[in-house]
Amino acid sequence: MKILSIETSCDDTCVAVIEISGEKNPRFRVMSNIISSQVEIHKKWGGVYPTMAKREHQKNLVSVLTEALIKAKLLKKAKNNIEKRKIRAIKRMLEREESLYERLIKFLNLYEKPEIDVLAVTVGPGLEPCLWSGINLAKALSFWWNLPIITVNHIEAHVFSNWIEIFNKRKKVKFPAVCLVASGGHTLLFLMKKVGSYKILGETRDDAAGECFDKVARILGLGYPGGPIIEGKADGKIKTSLPRPMINTKDYDFSFSGLKTAVLYNFKKQSEDSKKSEKYIRAICKETQQAIIDVLLNKTKRAAKYFGAKTIILGGGVISNKELRKQFKKAFLKEKLDLLFPETKISTDNAVMVAIAAYFHRFKKKNWKEVLANANLNIIDNEF
Ligand code: KG4
Ligand code: ZN
Repeated sequence: MKILSIETSCDDTCVAVIEISGEKNPRFRVMSNIISSQVEIHKKWGGVYPTMAKREHQKNLVSVLTEALIKAKLLKKAKNNIEKRKIRAIKRMLEREESLYERLIKFLNLYEKPEIDVLAVTVGPGLEPCLWSGINLAKALSFWWNLPIITVNHIEAHVFSNWIEIFNKRKKVKFPAVCLVASGGHTLLFLMKKVGSYKILGETRDDAAGECFDKVARILGLGYPGGPIIEGKADGKIKTSLPRPMINTKDYDFSFSGLKTAVLYNFKKQSEDSKKSEKYIRAICKETQQAIIDVLLNKTKRAAKYFGAKTIILGGGVISNKELRKQFKKAFLKEKLDLLFPETKISTDNAVMVAIAAYFHRFKKKNWKEVLANANLNIIDNEF
């Protein structure tokens, strides 16, 4: 089975082609994984503006799709001219995606239907205008190529990014598992009783962990996205430590907005020289990173203990942080628990994880008319 997957829930325009072979013991082959990052656009503002991100998705989607199909060696020049009636239908479908429409019609005119069995697209949670661009492309392709669509939950996809290795290395996941997804939009801790059966334990009450990295980087004038920049600078020690919000509360919720405010006050208190000093910037980056790791690790450890977890599964952009990985490894090695995290290149947003999630939902194929965006889609909505 070949899946063509699309991901546009935030600021990365992603298309991938995955081949899955074997019924009982499936194997995944990534035929292509194309990501067009909008970092340069959002850098100026220190964060993502949904309407701007949507405009970029509309501009980039067709070239990312073309590149993904070329890389997968599935793109062939069309022999026949396309039907006017079908073009009119696509125009109606993409009436809010004008620049996407123009590019897509050119693409459909040029190329034949590729050897794909099913389309997959992220429908939520995420930035609604952005989600719609990916969904509208999936709908148009579904109509044009007569292929079904599998809808995917972005959070579940981050967790499933771990499954390439699980399947290809024939690993067994022991349940129950505690899953932590930490990204720019979400910080969610949940229990996976088995694949497709979830119980939410806690989530952030305000900013997500990645959002905190991004906002702190903005305060310090370091650029966007904050996570990798702060990781790159983290070194040394500041005089007064930063708070670890909610670290000792009995629930599994998170709160990171107080940490960002504490950085702001600390920064404002510094002399003009200190604010510009590399030593101070490095030290406050280190302390911010450690405060976030401490909170994430502490809550995950407590949840694992209370729910008798046998495995910890990590996913989301923040999980690409090397120091976080190192400290989680150390902590769970001691607890004798299996710890799974995805390869760094599929920790941040990508469409490979969308295809893996779609594989798990392969019996829930939809007609393009049924597919809608849901910015607040819950992981529970995705139970099997
Ligand atoms: O999962 P993701 O790519 O997109 C969302 O679903 O939001 O996560 C992006 C977030 C950003 O906030 C970014 O700063 C953070 O992940 N991030 C990191 C690192 N790389 C990306 N945070 C900490 N350390 C990193 N190395
Ligand atoms: Zn994400």
